[in-house]
Amino acid sequence: MPSIAIIGCGLIGAEHARCLAALGCPPVFFADTDLSRAQSLANVYGAQATANPVAAIVSPDVDTVYICTYHDTHAPLAIAAARSGKHIFLEKPMALTSAECHAIADAVRVANVTCMTGFKLHYYSLTRKAKELIRKPIALTTRVIDRRWPDDSWANDPIRGGGNVLSQGCHAVDLLNYLAGSKPIRIYAEGGNLHHPGLDLVDTMAATISYESGAVASLFIGDVGMTEHNGKFSFQAMNGNETIHLYRRLTRMSYFDGETDTRFDGDEDGFLNENREFLSALSDHRKPETNEIHGMRTQLILLAGIESIRTHQPQSLEDIL
Ligand SMILES: NC(=O)c1ccc[n+]([C@@H]2O[C@H](COP(=O)([O-])OP(=O)(O)OC[C@H]3O[C@@H](n4cnc5c(N)ncnc54)[C@H](O)[C@@H]3O)[C@@H](O)[C@H]2O)c1
Repeated sequence: MPSIAIIGCGLIGAEHARCLAALGCPPVFFADTDLSRAQSLANVYGAQATANPVAAIVSPDVDTVYICTYHDTHAPLAIAAARSGKHIFLEKPMALTSAECHAIADAVRVANVTCMTGFKLHYYSLTRKAKELIRKPIALTTRVIDRRWPDDSWANDPIRGGGNVLSQGCHAVDLLNYLAGSKPIRIYAEGGNLHHPGLDLVDTMAATISYESGAVASLFIGDVGMTEHNGKFSFQAMNGNETIHLYRRLTRMSYFDGETDTRFDGDEDGFLNENREFLSALSDHRKPETNEIHGMRTQLILLAGIESIRTHQPQSLEDIL
């Protein structure tokens, strides 16, 4: 089993620690610039704690790091980990800029370490079931719609977080690409800063993505107001006859097979399943399903969407990996 350090001991660092412990691999080191957060998780798991993330990265007691920090720290921490020869679980989004994504991917390649990007939606049981039921959709829709994010939250800070579209849009793009099962070739988007006027970021995106297979996807991302029925995440995939609709944070799915409707109920098991996939990839010396290339592709598509909003022009995705 790997010896894991969690860097960033907030909501998601604690969630990964819980999943790793449930999988028989509790973390051995916790790091957070707020030492009290690192210490309180270290107390739960009988682990070491530090306020210095680099101390955990270079520790000989650690061979794998989880990066669960603010988005502007993902690139420096991931690059430091790769250069120390450590395997990396990198929370989404991979990073906020194209240059940072490329720098992480380069560092991972040069160091020949394993890197997984955290796209939990990819690993929900109902997502896998949806993929099984409709293999070649011709039309897809997604809504990743949240309640309004406070202007003063770190995730809405243009530098530290990047706002809702850059933070959560990657989940939407990841799942659309997965369900489409084809290479995205073009994006056209409208939107912009519609309701956080004091912040220099894009808070709302309505986009269309075309795929090599001929499939088209409609994508909506924003913290413009969530309903209880869909929850934050809702996806549909259709092949002209059959339809699947994943909704209520992907814990429900309805499937129409052309004649009858069937409903499936599932759990919010994405975090646990993605940790299982990471441990299995490390043990098998293989790339995880959502690796650094996947993380980079997803973020570059979103950045192309933002460029489309700025220019009012479709953006080709042919050359982005
Ligand atoms: N996969 C998902 O569904 C999901 C959901 C929410 C958040 N996230 C992602 O998880 C990451 C963390 O989000 P969160 O909700 O846990 O945030 P959080 O604010 O709860 O925790 C972040 C922690 O990181 C610490 N930190 C910041 N910079 C640091 C640094 N340089 N070194 C060490 N510690 C540092 C902060 O002190 C804080 O304790 C982000 O990338 C976020 O987008 C993923």
